[in-house]
Amino acid sequence: MARACFVTATDTDVGKTVFCAGLTRLLDGVYWKPVQAGLADETDAETVRRLAELPPERVLPEAWALHTPASPHLAAEIDGVEIEPEALALPASDRVVVVEGAGGLMVPLTRRTLLIEVIARWGAPVVLCARTRLGTINHTLLSIEALRRRAIPLLGVAFVGEAHAENERIIGSLGEVPILGRLPHLDPLTPAALAAAFERAFKRESFPQRSLP
Ligand SMILES: Nc1ncnc2c1ncn2[C@@H]1O[C@H](COP(=O)(O)OP(=O)(O)O)[C@@H](O)[C@H]1O
Ligand SMILES: [Mg+2]
Repeated sequence: MARACFVTATDTDVGKTVFCAGLTRLLDGVYWKPVQAGLADETDAETVRRLAELPPERVLPEAWALHTPASPHLAAEIDGVEIEPEALALPASDRVVVVEGAGGLMVPLTRRTLLIEVIARWGAPVVLCARTRLGTINHTLLSIEALRRRAIPLLGVAFVGEAHAENERIIGSLGEVPILGRLPHLDPLTPAALAAAFERAFKRESFPQRSLP
């Protein structure tokens, strides 16, 4: 099976795409966004390619690219296509595949299937991105509980934002989960600033490694 790492978050807009750009570069991996909803602005794949300065072949094509910026189930209905969750399979690669989810874990892909069910079927380990600020304890612990209930392996929590030592500490202890690090808010958010901050904040060994031939 491909070595993969599934990046999810407590919510949309937490910073998954920016985190994935940093992680794909750190691991010399490839990036894959299976379901992209909203094609008006830069897509997540385009953002990652720009921020991680990847050659085109290190960004895999989406399985479903939907025009409407909405929950995937609704975006697909409006676009007039049907997502087939059972057809979603991790792409083969000799590099680690960094997979970015859509929104959080309980996002519907169809009226019957949630994204978390596909993650459970794949069995790939998950990184949970979380904000540092108020509200994060509840959202993060709920997400951890949903992952554990489905026996999905959790590598740990990656925080995004300004330091909040107590939020990070209490999530680690009540969630009984490793804290992988914290990516600070970067201004300006440039490829060089992201690569440097990511190397300072995270350890390669915390994530799946490319298997040597
Ligand atoms: N570490 C960061 N430093 C500066 N801006 C960030 C950082 N992380 C995320 N952002 C910004 O926050 C917004 C949401 O981030 P994004 O990665 O697109 O979230 P998600 O993929 O979870 O929806 C974007 O405008 C992005 O540029
Ligand atoms: Mg994103």
